[in-house]
Amino acid sequence: MKKTSLFIGLAFGIALTFFSCAGRQEAKEIRSGELWLDDAGIHVNAHGGGILYHEGTYYWYGENKSDTTSAAMVGIMCYSSKNLTDWKNEGVVLPVVTNDTTSDITQGCIMERPKVIYNEKTGKFVLWFHLELKGKGYAAARSAVAVADNPTGPFKYLRSGRINPGKLPFDMTDEQRAVFDTLDIDKYKEWWTPVWYDAIAKGLFVKRDLEGGQMARDMQLFVDDDGKGYHIYSSEDNLTLQIAELSDDYLTHTGKYVRIAPAGHNEAPAIFKKDGTYWMITSGCTGWEPNEARMFSAPSIWGPWTQHPNPCIGDDAHLTFHGQSTYVLPVHGKKDAFIFMADNWRPKHPSDARYIWLPILFREGKPVIKWFDSWTLDDFSNGKLEEMNLALMDSIR
Ligand code: GAL
Repeated sequence: MKKTSLFIGLAFGIALTFFSCAGRQEAKEIRSGELWLDDAGIHVNAHGGGILYHEGTYYWYGENKSDTTSAAMVGIMCYSSKNLTDWKNEGVVLPVVTNDTTSDITQGCIMERPKVIYNEKTGKFVLWFHLELKGKGYAAARSAVAVADNPTGPFKYLRSGRINPGKLPFDMTDEQRAVFDTLDIDKYKEWWTPVWYDAIAKGLFVKRDLEGGQMARDMQLFVDDDGKGYHIYSSEDNLTLQIAELSDDYLTHTGKYVRIAPAGHNEAPAIFKKDGTYWMITSGCTGWEPNEARMFSAPSIWGPWTQHPNPCIGDDAHLTFHGQSTYVLPVHGKKDAFIFMADNWRPKHPSDARYIWLPILFREGKPVIKWFDSWTLDDFSNGKLEEMNLALMDSIR
């Protein structure tokens, strides 16, 4: 009797261990800068991307880059994953147009930094991206929008254009307006002089572009807790960021916008919200070459936005670890778990560009980014990152 119950107990114990191990898969390593293979063993081709979490699945949207050019030869890609490390190629969700050279998105145009958000009210998936017209360099500085019924598309292309034609920033004071009214573009022919910077900060290019709408290049989307959508973009010839409110269906702009860090030369905005504070990480403007990240915070999406030092620490922090911000991903279901996503561009071989994903640490509530050769999502809950947060308190820069 005793022997039997011992045996049953032992067998039960072994089975329990077996099933609990089988049920709980260890998170896989995230190794920034290496090749990231999809379900077909091919390096993920979703650059300048962003991630949407929807009903248990992460959808990663990004630029398909070819081997020899950064122009759009294929379109916008989507990959899906349940665990953020195994990625299934869902294909091209918005292809370039190959049979109509008059299309905005004709093959050879520039489609950059695509982001997708889900609209609860309409049940639609809305894709915005930075569009440059074929053969026109970066002069068009347009935003384009497409919509789909499913996260994996197909997305229907709607239109492109500049932003909020005829509208001034809604927070412009009467005093600022009076100065703005006196700005005369003909007086500032020479760029990069102190007086020119001063005029830019006062809205010289807002005025120049007022009629046709504000320029928009590197961009981000953000949906707030109340469901309102925002478009954040490098405007005014990349000199000033703007944040514009999206309409209820996210398909247009409402006309309400603010300017951030006027004349501060910021690109690649990545925004997230933690404990009621909005954080934004950006880069400087050095094209495909990496530079030092910048960081801002605000108590409201409309500001005031305060600049902080570079959040990166350690070796190569001054080059954002050779990356440029593209998105900050809140990990679903894990409190205070945010992943900083950046691109390590390879302009000579664009499709070989690599991804940098690093967990965001917090020192006294302020984001800090540190390089890890390897880390896992489990580090958000196994105490490792918390320990580092504590260690950061007495540290360095
Ligand atoms: C970067 C920008 C990229 C791309 C590139 C072109 O600064 O972040 O999205 O536009 O310039 O040189």
